[in-house]
Amino acid sequence: MACPGSWHHGTVRLRTLTPVTAVLGAAAVGYVTVIERNWFALRRYDVPVLPPGSAPLRVLHISDAHLTPGRKRLMSWIRTLGDLDPDLVVNTGDCIAHPEAVGCFLDSLGPLLDRPGVFVYGSNDLYGPQPRNPMRYVRRTGITPPGPKSVHLPWEKLRDGMLEAGWLDLNNRRGQLTIGGLGIALAGVHDSHISRDRYQDVAGRADPAAGLRIGVMHSPEPRLLDQFTADGYDLLLAGHTHGGQLCLPVYGTLVTNCGLDRERARGLHRHPADGPAWLHVSAGLGTSPWAPARFACRPEATLLTLTPREPR
Ligand SMILES: [Fe+2]
Repeated sequence: MACPGSWHHGTVRLRTLTPVTAVLGAAAVGYVTVIERNWFALRRYDVPVLPPGSAPLRVLHISDAHLTPGRKRLMSWIRTLGDLDPDLVVNTGDCIAHPEAVGCFLDSLGPLLDRPGVFVYGSNDLYGPQPRNPMRYVRRTGITPPGPKSVHLPWEKLRDGMLEAGWLDLNNRRGQLTIGGLGIALAGVHDSHISRDRYQDVAGRADPAAGLRIGVMHSPEPRLLDQFTADGYDLLLAGHTHGGQLCLPVYGTLVTNCGLDRERARGLHRHPADGPAWLHVSAGLGTSPWAPARFACRPEATLLTLTPREPR
């Protein structure tokens, strides 16, 4: 039999808990959508990948800004990266998320455009973001085609802005640079997440005479990582995963949104695990406007200081 006294007591507790729960919920939403999403981190790693005796080379890796014109804090933070004065900038795509964002993105890069740079696209440079069921994100590891209502973004303007600055377009292309006397062989692919990658266009042994060989891609699909590694690329750079974006403390990344294992969803690792190449996956600078939240996964850019490897 129900006890009226207990019912009354429960009602009082419920009345107390409801505002407390609402306040805690609002605080949690505020933290993931405002505080952590704008709590930018500069990661730093040393990577022993250069020939013995080489001077260090500082590579700034940026990715996944998903920029919209309203993201003033993100734009301001990207502008501060110019103070690092890197030797090379690598942009692994998903730069924009709005038709009017190309100028904002290029303005934010500012003095970085005066440095040597290379880029590949992510799907979000071509197609505007669309609302999606969040559960698809949690389950998804495969290809996501653009939807029927996808807005086409001005990726040509984005490309032209970076090309005019002298950056190399590595979408299914090879390139080469000489920086500080170091010859660098580069190859990249367009975004495999929307089946735009054509590794066959860049396949073949990376220049063995180069001092450094860099493979660049948006989505770190294992088959691409394997191909770049088999062709002799020393350093592989990718974005796309957002580091999982919404992570669990201690457990870490829940999903990578591609075929990569979640243990390597962000940061510096070897590829394969005991293999010859180094893999850096950026957790990215931004988020889709339709998923504007981060937890236990701060937005980031990374300064990789390449150093000489041990003599063999
Ligand atoms: Fe992205």
